Amino acid sequence: MFITLEGPEGSGKTSHLDRLAEAIHQAGYEVIVTREPGGTRIGNEIRNTLLSLKNTEMHPATEILLFQASRAQHVHELILPALAEGKVVLCDRFADSTIAYQGYGHQTDLEELTRIIRFATGGLDPDLTLLLDVDIETGLARRSSDKGSWNRLDAKEIAFHKRVRQGYLKMVAAQPARWEVVDASRSLEEVQQALQRVVLARLAQKSR
Ligand code: TYD
Repeated sequence: MFITLEGPEGSGKTSHLDRLAEAIHQAGYEVIVTREPGGTRIGNEIRNTLLSLKNTEMHPATEILLFQASRAQHVHELILPALAEGKVVLCDRFADSTIAYQGYGHQTDLEELTRIIRFATGGLDPDLTLLLDVDIETGLARRSSDKGSWNRLDAKEIAFHKRVRQGYLKMVAAQPARWEVVDASRSLEEVQQALQRVVLARLAQKSR
């Protein structure tokens, strides 16, 4: 089962992943945790290029294609083989991030973007996508108090981040069966419990 985590800046996704994976493991499933951009050696090299603060001249088309290059490597080298072995793959961001950030955020044509994504993923879609939803002001305030992880994309204006969040909510409305929205303004503990409930219920349902 392929599970992805999505959310705007400061939604706390990354801090939940390892505990969520541990709960899945405890429930008797083999699970691997990965992330985008990155997840493979080549993907991590692309990630450094994408997030480097010095790459201010990067054209939006270059950015879009580098995210897909990282994704293509990730899908073919890591995700598909793991799924074929029956593992649960838990991934921090996937194609929905491209629709949210490059599509709604940078206002790139969604149909064209969908075609480029499909070329990279070979049509692989998550079975379940968890949206850690938080309003922009709360998210950015959390993010800026955590200076170590500040990156080039975080420096974009508030309006950009608002479009990103609205983009996610539109994707949820369009495909409600694939998405679960978790209110991430609550405490870490409450959010973690909610994530575990949702994921373990889906896994149990799938293996019945
Ligand atoms: P990261 O430091 O992993 O941030 P986060 O903790 O928010 O996931 O940086 C990833 C950044 O890349 C984040 O700002 C979202 C962005 N991104 C895109 O714009 N498009 C994409 O397709 C992906 C996967 C990520």
